[in-house]
Amino acid sequence: MKWRARWIALGCASSLLAAPSFAASPAPATALKTETTLAQRPGHAAIASAHRLATEAGFEVLRAGGNAFDAGVAVAATLSVVEPQSSGIGGGGFFLLHRVSDGKDVMLDARETAPMGSSSKLYEDADGNPDRDKSLNGALAAGIPGEPAALVWMAQRYGKLPLTKSLSPAIRIASEGFRPDARMLAELRQRAKVIARYPGSATLLLPDGQPPQVGWTFKNPDLANTLTRIAKDGDAGFYRGEFAQKLVDGVSSQGGDWTLADLANYKVRERAPIAFDYHPPGKPAFHIVSASPPSSGGIVLAEMLNILTGFDLDKMDRAHRVHAIVEAMRRGYRDRTQYLGDPDFVPMPVARLTSMAYADELRASIQPEHATPSNALPAVQPESMHTTHFSIIDADGNMVAGTQTVNTEFGSCLVIPGTGFVLNNEMDDFALVPGKPNAYGLIGYDANAPKPGRRPLSSMTPTFVFGPDRVGVIGTPGGSRIITMVLEGVLGFVDGMNAAQITVQPRFHHQYLPDAISTEPGALNRATIKTLQDMGYQINAGERTWGFMNVTIWDRRTNTLDAASDPRGESGLGKVQ
Ligand code: DON
Repeated sequence: MKWRARWIALGCASSLLAAPSFAASPAPATALKTETTLAQRPGHAAIASAHRLATEAGFEVLRAGGNAFDAGVAVAATLSVVEPQSSGIGGGGFFLLHRVSDGKDVMLDARETAPMGSSSKLYEDADGNPDRDKSLNGALAAGIPGEPAALVWMAQRYGKLPLTKSLSPAIRIASEGFRPDARMLAELRQRAKVIARYPGSATLLLPDGQPPQVGWTFKNPDLANTLTRIAKDGDAGFYRGEFAQKLVDGVSSQGGDWTLADLANYKVRERAPIAFDYHPPGKPAFHIVSASPPSSGGIVLAEMLNILTGFDLDKMDRAHRVHAIVEAMRRGYRDRTQYLGDPDFVPMPVARLTSMAYADELRASIQPEHATPSNALPAVQPESMHTTHFSIIDADGNMVAGTQTVNTEFGSCLVIPGTGFVLNNEMDDFALVPGKPNAYGLIGYDANAPKPGRRPLSSMTPTFVFGPDRVGVIGTPGGSRIITMVLEGVLGFVDGMNAAQITVQPRFHHQYLPDAISTEPGALNRATIKTLQDMGYQINAGERTWGFMNVTIWDRRTNTLDAASDPRGESGLGKVQ
């Protein structure tokens, strides 16, 4: 087989299963950097988000003289209004920025933090098992929100407009109302019982005590007021004073333990992204800029792509291509479990994990004709779909990749009366009980334990891809599958796909454990499945689709923009204007 020429020498699969140990080290320097320069500008803008009202809000702010970062604030805030099941003021996210004036790439880390009173004990039942009701529903589930601080930070340090301008579309839509789409209504029905537990939540989300029907206009004047306060007073309008007191009182009346200091101490962190080059055989090099810890996304993506540089994917048949990619996925996810957490608290071997030498070792353990069994850890489950990603390129070439979340649908379902937003349930992203799976089936140990002030490990992977001719902005929701969806998006981009083709391509996933390839319907045909089964794979061909990928691309050769929102989501809009 032709592709075998690219296969690096076989190693011993069993040596792989012993987790490698190495000392913490700084992130590696990157060799190649494809700059976008002021000498060339797209002249138009491209925005793709999970809701057309959010995409249009971004363009509204660009027309008012804003740049990509102002548009990012508008899109993020509007998603908070129109997609409260996915993200919001009560949640957090990661915002990857590319500023063209100085070529700076930076990740704004607006991940939630654990309140000072946190400990694993709060989430254990009498038998020492995780008490899912506590980590997913109500006050104990909620970390200190980062989203408001991100909006303020992005506007004040990177934007051109005051927050009163960039937040105005979101404020208007919250106060005038909008018609929720079928997805939001279905998810409201799903979470109605938990929402009904909390008076503030029921008043906001269950008109007449029942899940609303199609045609309902959702007005949220409390959220309009909250956003107006942030627009006027910045961080102080949310994290200090009267509003902070309202949050603390509301959380404690529901059995949680937030303090004024937890809120006042919240800070956005600027993190250096994980940046590396992907140089596939027979193709030019691509420079990838992606999420750094406390996201696992960039590191796992780097591990997978580094492994894949050893394979000429273009020359492989479908089954062997899937085999190579899945073995890369399996190995990348294995390390997520063991090493990664909040970089402010946990030393991590980032340089080693993202090095080609390490990828060479991992690649050597892949067998050309056989699946490597993952049998070292307990099984994990797939996760659901509540987070949101948007991609922006402005007329100057500034870029934003934003992935934001409240974690599972409608987060903790707890709305503190008078605030207009649900609090997140991001505490469940911690390894609350060591080695016991979280809601998504992901496990972890001390590196991701819920200690006061820590940020829980995330899979969100907002990513830039700089190729020789084209630049792409890629990301998606999808829990643990986010990283493999972004991998498949990057591989599609490298193969020359346009934005629509990247979002449409059917997906497959492997996350080390469970030791199975899961797929969307139609991702693998019968013959490919058979070949993979003969190699030793278990295939779970699913009936559901996943993800809600939003992609923008700038082709610098033709100076054209392209934007697409995943057809799997009905309300998304990718648009060039
Ligand atoms: O940060 C994380 O990895 C999760 N809280 C993301 C959750 C998610 O993507 C849910 N579904 N789409």
